[in-house]
Amino acid sequence: MRTIAHVSDLHFGREDPRVATALLRDLEQMAPSVVVVSGDLTQRARRREFAAARDYLARVPAPLVVVPGNHDVPLWDVLARFTRTFDLYREYISGDLGPLFRDDEIAVLGVNTARAMTFKGGRISQAQIAELHERLSMLPGALFKTVVTHHQLLPPPGGHLLDRVGRGARAFSAIEKCGVELLLAGHLHLGYTGDVRSHYPFVRRSVLVVLAGTAISTRVRGEPNGYNKIAIDRDCVDVERRLWDGNAFLGALVTRFRRLAHEWVQQPTRPGP
Ligand SMILES: [Fe+2]
Ligand SMILES: [Fe+2]
Repeated sequence: MRTIAHVSDLHFGREDPRVATALLRDLEQMAPSVVVVSGDLTQRARRREFAAARDYLARVPAPLVVVPGNHDVPLWDVLARFTRTFDLYREYISGDLGPLFRDDEIAVLGVNTARAMTFKGGRISQAQIAELHERLSMLPGALFKTVVTHHQLLPPPGGHLLDRVGRGARAFSAIEKCGVELLLAGHLHLGYTGDVRSHYPFVRRSVLVVLAGTAISTRVRGEPNGYNKIAIDRDCVDVERRLWDGNAFLGALVTRFRRLAHEWVQQPTRPGP
């Protein structure tokens, strides 16, 4: 069994220090196999915000898979936006914009969807789709494969079909072929779970989608700060939302998926611990 802590949209510069400290405490108790950070580490891609994010991530008690978000690209400085798009990210967070974590049960690949050309939306390029396919295809088929992006590949419930990553539909054939089971993202500051086939009937295989809200920032949108604890045990995936109640992160609803005949089937929900 492996546990992914899926954390997103930290937005240093607009972080709540109490919530940030509590999240570290929660992660220490959980001791996840890996912590995934699906972008927007900063509020305005400022040097001091990246430094704060770096110092914070250094205290996370687990291996990390981190990707940038649209807020990690300079906004107002147009020259920096187009010529030094990820320079501060590389300097403070990681030089690897496509990080891979793997052990003998799971693999988690990060794909950068943030761009200088798009202010809020994201893109995945043909080259990135080809690289995703190549890197994940060469891994053993028994591994549970996860891809993390900042921008969501699936529209949110009730959302417009265009409200997703550009060219995302083209990525699905690669995602399907190389056996990806789970897609993680953030960006909307809303948590939800779904299956890609709800919007893409041409995808024949069941692929789970999980979004996380903003973990520690004050930029909440109608739901409290939160993150996801995802427990993966071969043919069973439990997605537990852990939500800030004003004092601590508490387990909320657990959504369980079981693989039945090559299909992830959502089981009746149950309250968290
Ligand atoms: Fe964000
Ligand atoms: Fe974002």
